[in-house]
Amino acid sequence: MTEDIKRQLGPEISVPKHIAIIMDGNGRWAKRKGQPRIAGHKEGMNNVKTIATAASHLGVRVLSLYAFSTENWSRPSKEVNFLMRLPVDFFGTFMPDLIKENIKVEVTGFTDKLPDRTRKVVLKAVEDTKDNTGMILNFAFNYGGRAEIVNAVKNLAIEAKNGSIDPTKIDDTMFADQLLTNQLGDLADPDLLIRTSGEERISNFMLWQLAYSEMVFDKTYWPEYSVDNLIEDILEFDRRDRRFGSV
Ligand code: FPP
Repeated sequence: MTEDIKRQLGPEISVPKHIAIIMDGNGRWAKRKGQPRIAGHKEGMNNVKTIATAASHLGVRVLSLYAFSTENWSRPSKEVNFLMRLPVDFFGTFMPDLIKENIKVEVTGFTDKLPDRTRKVVLKAVEDTKDNTGMILNFAFNYGGRAEIVNAVKNLAIEAKNGSIDPTKIDDTMFADQLLTNQLGDLADPDLLIRTSGEERISNFMLWQLAYSEMVFDKTYWPEYSVDNLIEDILEFDRRDRRFGSV
């Protein structure tokens, strides 16, 4: 599979090191098929397996997936409960492949606020793959960009108050160290953000980290987002001229 996928992309194409995806359109996909919204989330979860495997074969170093936002708690409890059970299903079935693919699982989010079973299964996946050296599959779970920034500010204020840091010395690096993506180190900022389903907004996702990311808004609903779509979006990224504020 690896060689096939790479061939489709072409050797001269620059693959983004960190791709972040807002996996939108599960509900609309299900509605179109006359199915309940949760059927869309289940199909969306299955597609995570396909896209994560392809991204790993393409040489992506970090794939961040927005799986549950701090705002998603306001959805009907049946849907929230279903989304909270998805990691149990996902890691229960996909762990052997993650190990085989040498994929390392990380989580970005307020995990302490997750139901016990969800938290345990997610943290176990992180633990079980911690020695893997391939692509990082980073789940944003109970994640919100504003809450993350407020949390970072609080931590720095506490450290300044107790004298362990000089507040006048706070810089980008010290700030980024307090963010929930700090475990990603130099790879914390996505090179490419993809949002599926045709919506064009960032919905509180990685507000700090997306400062210089290229954005591609793909019309496909997430459950149908294919490896070909991913390759098209990477080719679009390759056509962009990234200047990081310079000329
Ligand atoms: C947004 O679509 C999607 C979500 C809120 C959940 C995304 C979750 C997955 C794709 C599964 C994640 C997998 C694991 C392993 C945790 P929407 O429901 O807002 O769709 P709509 O805009 O069409 O209603």
